Amino acid sequence: MVQMSEFESLFCRTRLWRSVARRFVVPRVLDGGEVGPQVLEIGCGSGAMAAEVLAQRPGIDRYVATDVDPAMVRLARRELASQAGRAEAAEVDGARLPYGDGSFDTVCSWLMLHHTITWEDVVADAARVLRPGGRLVGYDLPDSPRARLVHRVTRSRVRMVAPEELARELVALGFESVEVEPLGVADTYRFSAVRPPG
Ligand SMILES: C[S@@+](CC[C@H](N)C(=O)[O-])C[C@H]1O[C@@H](n2cnc3c(N)ncnc32)[C@H](O)[C@@H]1O
Repeated sequence: MVQMSEFESLFCRTRLWRSVARRFVVPRVLDGGEVGPQVLEIGCGSGAMAAEVLAQRPGIDRYVATDVDPAMVRLARRELASQAGRAEAAEVDGARLPYGDGSFDTVCSWLMLHHTITWEDVVADAARVLRPGGRLVGYDLPDSPRARLVHRVTRSRVRMVAPEELARELVALGFESVEVEPLGVADTYRFSAVRPPG
Protein backbone atom coordinates (compact mmCIF):
# COMPACT_ATOMS: atom_id res chain seq x y z
CA MET A 1 0.00 0.00 0.00
CA VAL A 2 1.22 3.54 -0.74
CA GLN A 3 1.59 5.45 2.49
CA MET A 4 2.50 9.02 3.33
CA SER A 5 5.52 9.62 5.48
CA GLU A 6 4.84 10.20 9.17
CA PHE A 7 5.96 13.83 8.75
CA GLU A 8 3.49 14.52 5.93
CA SER A 9 0.74 12.77 7.82
CA LEU A 10 1.36 15.07 10.82
CA PHE A 11 1.77 18.20 8.69
CA CYS A 12 -1.61 17.66 7.01
CA ARG A 13 -3.23 17.99 10.42
CA THR A 14 -1.60 21.26 11.49
CA ARG A 15 -3.36 24.60 11.88
CA LEU A 16 -1.06 26.12 9.28
CA TRP A 17 -2.18 23.54 6.69
CA ARG A 18 -5.83 24.18 7.48
CA SER A 19 -5.43 27.92 7.29
CA VAL A 20 -3.69 27.75 3.88
CA ALA A 21 -6.37 25.30 2.68
CA ARG A 22 -9.23 27.52 3.84
CA ARG A 23 -7.92 30.86 2.62
CA PHE A 24 -6.08 29.98 -0.58
CA VAL A 25 -6.24 26.39 -1.79
CA VAL A 26 -9.97 25.58 -1.66
CA PRO A 27 -11.25 28.88 -3.17
CA ARG A 28 -8.59 28.94 -5.91
CA VAL A 29 -8.99 25.28 -6.88
CA LEU A 30 -12.79 25.42 -6.96
CA ASP A 31 -12.55 28.79 -8.73
CA GLY A 32 -16.24 29.61 -8.26
CA GLY A 33 -17.29 26.49 -10.21
CA GLU A 34 -20.17 24.19 -9.33
CA VAL A 35 -19.48 21.52 -6.69
CA GLY A 36 -21.84 18.63 -5.85
CA PRO A 37 -24.45 17.91 -4.72
CA GLN A 38 -22.76 14.43 -4.71
CA VAL A 39 -18.99 14.70 -4.13
CA LEU A 40 -16.24 12.08 -3.99
CA GLU A 41 -12.80 12.93 -2.64
CA ILE A 42 -9.90 10.57 -3.37
CA GLY A 43 -6.93 10.57 -0.97
CA CYS A 44 -8.64 12.61 1.75
CA GLY A 45 -5.86 12.26 4.35
CA SER A 46 -7.01 13.66 7.69
CA GLY A 47 -10.25 15.04 6.21
CA ALA A 48 -9.06 18.66 6.55
CA MET A 49 -9.89 19.56 2.95
CA ALA A 50 -13.25 17.81 3.15
CA ALA A 51 -14.15 19.89 6.22
CA GLU A 52 -13.18 23.11 4.41
CA VAL A 53 -15.10 22.29 1.24
CA LEU A 54 -18.20 21.36 3.25
CA ALA A 55 -17.95 24.63 5.19
CA GLN A 56 -17.57 26.70 2.01
CA ARG A 57 -20.19 24.88 -0.08
CA PRO A 58 -23.47 24.43 1.85
CA GLY A 59 -25.15 23.04 -1.30
CA ILE A 60 -23.30 19.72 -0.99
CA ASP A 61 -25.71 16.89 -0.02
CA ARG A 62 -23.19 14.06 0.31
CA TYR A 63 -19.38 14.16 0.53
CA VAL A 64 -17.62 10.79 0.43
CA ALA A 65 -14.03 11.23 1.67
CA THR A 66 -11.86 8.23 0.78
CA ASP A 67 -8.28 7.17 1.39
CA VAL A 68 -6.28 4.00 0.86
CA ASP A 69 -4.64 4.29 4.30
CA PRO A 70 -6.88 3.04 7.15
CA ALA A 71 -5.12 5.32 9.67
CA MET A 72 -6.05 8.38 7.58
CA VAL A 73 -9.62 7.13 7.19
CA ARG A 74 -9.94 6.92 10.99
CA LEU A 75 -8.75 10.54 11.29
CA ALA A 76 -11.10 11.70 8.54
CA ARG A 77 -14.00 9.93 10.22
CA ARG A 78 -13.25 11.82 13.43
CA GLU A 79 -12.87 15.12 11.55
CA LEU A 80 -16.22 14.68 9.78
CA ALA A 81 -18.17 13.29 12.75
CA SER A 82 -20.05 16.57 13.21
CA GLN A 83 -21.24 16.34 9.57
CA ALA A 84 -22.88 12.92 10.00
CA GLY A 85 -25.57 12.45 7.35
CA ARG A 86 -23.77 14.82 4.97
CA ALA A 87 -20.26 13.35 4.98
CA GLU A 88 -18.69 9.93 5.38
CA ALA A 89 -15.17 8.47 5.20
CA ALA A 90 -14.23 5.14 3.62
CA GLU A 91 -11.12 3.06 2.95
CA VAL A 92 -10.83 3.00 -0.82
CA ASP A 93 -8.02 2.77 -3.37
CA GLY A 94 -8.44 5.63 -5.83
CA ALA A 95 -7.40 3.34 -8.68
CA ARG A 96 -10.23 0.88 -7.91
CA LEU A 97 -13.26 2.89 -6.91
CA PRO A 98 -16.12 0.72 -5.64
CA TYR A 99 -18.78 3.06 -7.04
CA GLY A 100 -21.01 2.76 -10.07
CA ASP A 101 -20.51 4.63 -13.33
CA GLY A 102 -21.75 8.22 -13.20
CA SER A 103 -22.41 8.24 -9.42
CA PHE A 104 -20.88 11.65 -8.59
CA ASP A 105 -21.26 15.26 -9.73
CA THR A 106 -17.75 16.19 -8.58
CA VAL A 107 -14.57 14.24 -7.90
CA CYS A 108 -11.87 16.08 -5.90
CA SER A 109 -8.19 15.24 -5.56
CA TRP A 110 -6.19 17.48 -3.25
CA LEU A 111 -2.40 17.07 -3.45
CA MET A 112 -2.60 13.30 -3.71
CA LEU A 113 -2.07 12.15 -7.32
CA HIS A 114 1.74 12.10 -6.96
CA HIS A 115 1.36 9.74 -4.00
CA THR A 116 -0.56 7.15 -5.99
CA ILE A 117 2.25 6.04 -8.36
CA THR A 118 -0.41 4.81 -10.83
CA TRP A 119 -2.05 8.23 -11.18
CA GLU A 120 -3.27 7.47 -14.74
CA ASP A 121 -5.49 4.69 -13.30
CA VAL A 122 -6.80 7.09 -10.64
CA VAL A 123 -7.90 9.77 -13.13
CA ALA A 124 -9.38 7.09 -15.42
CA ASP A 125 -11.53 5.71 -12.60
CA ALA A 126 -12.50 9.25 -11.58
CA ALA A 127 -13.76 9.77 -15.15
CA ARG A 128 -15.84 6.60 -14.90
CA VAL A 129 -17.63 7.52 -11.66
CA LEU A 130 -18.41 11.09 -12.78
CA ARG A 131 -21.81 11.71 -14.30
CA PRO A 132 -21.89 13.27 -17.77
CA GLY A 133 -21.27 16.99 -17.21
CA GLY A 134 -19.59 16.28 -13.86
CA ARG A 135 -16.25 17.86 -12.93
CA LEU A 136 -12.88 16.57 -11.75
CA VAL A 137 -11.05 19.24 -9.71
CA GLY A 138 -7.90 19.33 -7.67
CA TYR A 139 -4.32 20.43 -7.33
CA ASP A 140 -0.95 18.79 -7.29
CA LEU A 141 2.78 19.31 -7.25
CA PRO A 142 5.13 19.07 -10.24
CA ASP A 143 8.64 17.67 -10.13
CA SER A 144 11.23 20.21 -8.91
CA PRO A 145 14.47 20.15 -6.92
CA ARG A 146 12.49 21.40 -3.91
CA ALA A 147 9.81 18.69 -4.23
CA ARG A 148 12.51 16.02 -4.61
CA LEU A 149 14.30 17.27 -1.51
CA VAL A 150 11.11 17.33 0.57
CA HIS A 151 10.15 13.81 -0.48
CA ARG A 152 13.67 12.51 0.13
CA VAL A 153 13.77 14.04 3.60
CA THR A 154 10.26 12.81 4.46
CA ARG A 155 10.95 9.41 2.83
CA SER A 156 7.74 9.52 0.82
CA ARG A 157 7.27 7.21 -2.14
CA VAL A 158 6.02 9.36 -5.00
CA ARG A 159 5.78 9.62 -8.76
CA MET A 160 5.44 13.27 -9.66
CA VAL A 161 2.81 14.38 -12.16
CA ALA A 162 3.92 16.99 -14.69
CA PRO A 163 1.08 19.46 -15.43
CA GLU A 164 1.38 18.95 -19.20
CA GLU A 165 1.30 15.15 -18.77
CA LEU A 166 -1.86 15.42 -16.68
CA ALA A 167 -3.49 17.72 -19.24
CA ARG A 168 -2.66 15.24 -22.04
CA GLU A 169 -4.06 12.32 -20.06
CA LEU A 170 -7.30 14.17 -19.24
CA VAL A 171 -7.82 15.03 -22.90
CA ALA A 172 -7.06 11.40 -23.89
CA LEU A 173 -9.71 10.24 -21.41
CA GLY A 174 -12.26 12.38 -23.24
CA PHE A 175 -12.56 15.20 -20.69
CA GLU A 176 -13.59 18.64 -21.95
CA SER A 177 -12.76 22.15 -20.69
CA VAL A 178 -9.42 20.87 -19.41
CA GLU A 179 -7.59 23.53 -17.36
CA VAL A 180 -4.18 22.92 -15.77
CA GLU A 181 -2.53 26.09 -14.49
CA PRO A 182 -0.40 27.45 -11.64
CA LEU A 183 -2.34 27.68 -8.39
CA GLY A 184 -0.25 30.50 -6.97
CA VAL A 185 0.65 28.57 -3.80
CA ALA A 186 4.31 27.46 -3.90
CA ASP A 187 4.94 25.41 -7.08
CA THR A 188 1.54 23.78 -7.13
CA TYR A 189 -0.91 23.71 -10.03
CA ARG A 190 -4.69 23.39 -10.12
CA PHE A 191 -6.68 21.30 -12.56
CA SER A 192 -10.30 21.14 -13.62
CA ALA A 193 -11.89 19.00 -16.33
CA VAL A 194 -15.47 18.23 -17.29
CA ARG A 195 -16.84 14.87 -18.39
CA PRO A 196 -18.69 15.54 -21.63
CA PRO A 197 -22.47 15.80 -21.22
CA GLY A 198 -24.04 12.58 -22.56
C1 LIG B 1 -0.34 14.49 0.81
S1 LIG B 1 -1.73 13.57 1.36
C2 LIG B 1 -3.04 14.68 1.03
C3 LIG B 1 -4.19 14.49 1.97
C4 LIG B 1 -5.36 15.46 1.77
N1 LIG B 1 -5.89 15.38 0.42
C5 LIG B 1 -4.95 16.88 2.09
O1 LIG B 1 -4.76 17.68 1.16
O2 LIG B 1 -4.83 17.20 3.28
C6 LIG B 1 -1.96 12.27 0.18
C7 LIG B 1 -3.00 11.22 0.58
O3 LIG B 1 -3.23 10.36 -0.54
C8 LIG B 1 -3.47 9.05 -0.03
N2 LIG B 1 -3.28 8.08 -1.11
C9 LIG B 1 -2.12 7.69 -1.70
N3 LIG B 1 -2.36 6.78 -2.65
C10 LIG B 1 -3.71 6.60 -2.69
C11 LIG B 1 -4.58 5.80 -3.49
N4 LIG B 1 -4.11 4.97 -4.43
N5 LIG B 1 -5.91 5.87 -3.26
C12 LIG B 1 -6.40 6.70 -2.29
N6 LIG B 1 -5.62 7.47 -1.51
C13 LIG B 1 -4.30 7.43 -1.71
C14 LIG B 1 -2.49 8.92 1.12
O4 LIG B 1 -2.81 7.87 1.99
C15 LIG B 1 -2.61 10.31 1.75
O5 LIG B 1 -3.58 10.36 2.75
